[in-house]
Amino acid sequence: MGSVSLKIGDGTVRFRRATLCSSALHLVMLASVLITNLFALYAFTYAPKPLSPAVLHHKNISVISEHVAVILREIESSERRLHQIERELSGYETLDPSLPSLPSELKIFLNRHPLPLGPDSRSKITEMVSSVAHSCARSSDLLAQFMSYKPNTLCPVADSHLPMKLISRGCEPLPRRRCLSHTKPRQLLPLPKCLWNTPSFTGAAVLDKQMWIKPRGKNDFLIDDVLALAGRGIRIGFDIAGGAGNFAARMAERNITVVTSTLNAGGPVGEFVAARGLFPLQLSPANRFPFFDSTFDLVHTMNGLDEGGVIGMGQDPLKALEFLMFDIDRILRAGGLFWLDNYLCVDDERKRAVTRVIEMFGYKKLKWVVGEKANATITVKAQVYLSAVLQKPARG
Ligand SMILES: *[C@@H]1O[C@H](CO)[C@@H](O)[C@H](O)[C@H]1NC(C)=O
Ligand SMILES: *[C@@H]1O[C@H](CO)[C@@H](O)[C@H](O)[C@H]1NC(C)=O
Ligand SMILES: *[C@@H]1O[C@H](CO)[C@@H](O)[C@H](O)[C@H]1NC(C)=O
Repeated sequence: MGSVSLKIGDGTVRFRRATLCSSALHLVMLASVLITNLFALYAFTYAPKPLSPAVLHHKNISVISEHVAVILREIESSERRLHQIERELSGYETLDPSLPSLPSELKIFLNRHPLPLGPDSRSKITEMVSSVAHSCARSSDLLAQFMSYKPNTLCPVADSHLPMKLISRGCEPLPRRRCLSHTKPRQLLPLPKCLWNTPSFTGAAVLDKQMWIKPRGKNDFLIDDVLALAGRGIRIGFDIAGGAGNFAARMAERNITVVTSTLNAGGPVGEFVAARGLFPLQLSPANRFPFFDSTFDLVHTMNGLDEGGVIGMGQDPLKALEFLMFDIDRILRAGGLFWLDNYLCVDDERKRAVTRVIEMFGYKKLKWVVGEKANATITVKAQVYLSAVLQKPARG
């Protein structure tokens, strides 16, 4: 494979932990609901049975309504407790700028600033609010580290992996900083030479000079075949989790501009992509894409579907996939292509699930190939790959 693997260190571990947490949460919720209901059942059914009609006579309305009030109060308070537990587990507590432990730079960044010229009449906005993802609160120690620096000086050297760590934990967007990034002079080649002759300082990434040009199997589509499907209507594209930017490089050779979303996992991948004269975008697929609706002629991905589910969201992978697919659909123009390239389905169930989600959108299947590839590492059975080129219909 040509692309750099973007699996982020402990992303999977965190996901498992999150699943455990949410399972625990579900158990707690289930238990609470059961207990509340049992309590209500008991209170409503217990008293009357052993009582004689004479005693029952004395049980007047006010006693019964007192019971009901107690039950209602109990239900309300357990609901409040559940809410609290849920908030704590999901890290939804917002960053409170009044906390003394927050670095002062973060406080300054988070301060609301009144608009200098007064309220904006069109948007009704009265003040500027700086944004930090709510899930940053879950990684407040890392965030504090990120925001601890001396303003107007060089940023701390040790923290080059911090942004990636935070983003892969769903802390996206990050706050802005007032420190200067480290930078070295680079010898860069002009286009198109730079596409395939990358400077030595970016050792981490892999150039794949074969992919999309010489097929290795029936799941490998040729770029020129796919472009022909769109009747040369492809001008701008987006490659989700596009690693080293090989896809964008092949497209650049055809005068097509492709933005590559990538994370700096295990090396300066963004710098590598940029050195090739390509456009890297530091973005996890778990985030809403920073593009307008109906922008792209083409959206391409190999591993993006899995990463959208695992990193950051920590929730049901299938639901995460749905959110991702809707966002892909949003940024594609009508008639544009979604190219799912050699998607590795973990198992048949995942393949069926992914197929179901994709088919929900009613795209025209221009190409659809399910293939198996023998894997030297796993000799037991071949792995299932799905490759597809789908065309977005016009709607509404
Ligand atoms: C209802 O019961 C309460 C206490 O059990 C008693 O104080 C009250 O007088 C009763 N009311 C009537 C209308 O019987
Ligand atoms: C790309 O654009 C350049 C300059 O406009 C042109 O010379 C070249 O033929 C184009 N390449 C392709 C593959 O269309
Ligand atoms: C074989 O499977 C392993 C584990 O799933 C994977 O890491 C590796 O990339 C696969 N190799 C090929 C050639 O697909």
